[in-house]
Amino acid sequence: MSAKESIHGSWSSGWAFMLAATGSAVGLGNIWKFPYITGQNGGAAFVMVYLLCVLLIGIPVMIAEITLGRRGRQSPMNTMYTLAIESGHSPLWKYLGFMGVFAGFIILSYYSVIAGWAVYYMILSSMSEFTGITAAGANAKFGNFTQDPVYLLFFHTIFMLMTMYVVSLGVRSGLEKATKFMMPALFVILLILDGYAMNTNSFDKGVGFLFQPDFSKLTWSVVLTAMGHAFFTLSLGMGAIMVYGSYMPKRASIAKASFVIAIADVLVALLAGIAIFPVVFANGLEPSSGPGLLFITLPLAFGHMPWGALFGTLFFILVTFAAWTSSISLLEPAVTWLVENHRFKRIKATFVAGLIIWVLGIFTVFSFNKWAFKFTLIGKTYENGFFNIFDILTANIMLPLGGMLIAIFAGWYMSQQASRDELEVKEWMYMTWRFLVRYISPFAILIVFLNVIGVIKL
Ligand code: PHE
Repeated sequence: MSAKESIHGSWSSGWAFMLAATGSAVGLGNIWKFPYITGQNGGAAFVMVYLLCVLLIGIPVMIAEITLGRRGRQSPMNTMYTLAIESGHSPLWKYLGFMGVFAGFIILSYYSVIAGWAVYYMILSSMSEFTGITAAGANAKFGNFTQDPVYLLFFHTIFMLMTMYVVSLGVRSGLEKATKFMMPALFVILLILDGYAMNTNSFDKGVGFLFQPDFSKLTWSVVLTAMGHAFFTLSLGMGAIMVYGSYMPKRASIAKASFVIAIADVLVALLAGIAIFPVVFANGLEPSSGPGLLFITLPLAFGHMPWGALFGTLFFILVTFAAWTSSISLLEPAVTWLVENHRFKRIKATFVAGLIIWVLGIFTVFSFNKWAFKFTLIGKTYENGFFNIFDILTANIMLPLGGMLIAIFAGWYMSQQASRDELEVKEWMYMTWRFLVRYISPFAILIVFLNVIGVIKL
């Protein structure tokens, strides 16, 4: 069996792993993306499919991905390579790791641009720019900001530097401690926002939009987006959780950690949705207005509540921080691989990977202004050119595909003894997990894919 510890180090405890993995999972996906794609995909029916996907596909795949990581103790490519050889299978499995690194590059390239918006909004809020703002005013502010590529590039650059700084030091220093109080603080401030939403005249309508499903709104393309989001929000299918798993101490429980991470992640998304939709309806805004949704609605809430400027600033600090603990996990797989296979120093590896991603981010910067072309794909129209292409390619295709292969590897290729050894859970739990990763998860993903491209029609 491979080395007991990763050459990149280990978390100080199972608890530290859980914090880091929750930090990776909870991010813009929960606070920014979940609300706007829920709005675009018709609300509650989409939310139900997403929750079902987290339970039946997300959690089993997360357990599988962490298991592979802890067993392999290397970068995703070398982990897949070692485990495939160990179990007598094709070394080609390492390309699963490469696909993950590639997906991580593309995701981080746009993720960083959006995180830059949060940094900018933190500054706006601290200057009391939202006080007494109207819906039209909030719209105009967001519009003016995203119209200007120079601004977007500037904040994208800042956020990439922040990410590269932490990754170059090694993900275990510093952030572990900070996550400990940032995460609960994020919860508290979301609850304050939910309290504000409760006092708008549209609380029932907003909550109904999230939780009263109208299943006639479901199409296969909506189902794919919900499934893709389950992977995105749990950081699955590209090796992020796999590398974090490779630093996990042997005695910590993988199954327990996976449940805790998934529950915390879903809670943050739902709390964000409950804060946002009542404000959307109370102000006559469009739930389907797209990536600007968070940045248009929350200034309205902060602009009209007591201590709004303070809470607003705190909120955007916490969003930036949540994005930061996610972005480092997007970069980490590539960096570990460059260190292992190319003998790069961590600093150099971070710089090289970070630079490529920064350049790629320029496509997203221009997606909201100069290159904001529209396109239609399987009946849906997208307005923000490359940004939407990058998002669809990764969240709707690469992550589910990566997750499907991870499930197949863990369920069919890895020896039972190896996975039993890592999981150490009660027999019925092990058998349930094994059944899910062998049959349910891969087939569910396949069926959604085949329906979307029209090969089968259910
Ligand atoms: N899960 C993160 C979020 O919801 C994004 C992410 C995706 C991080 C994939 C790592 C890997 O914001």
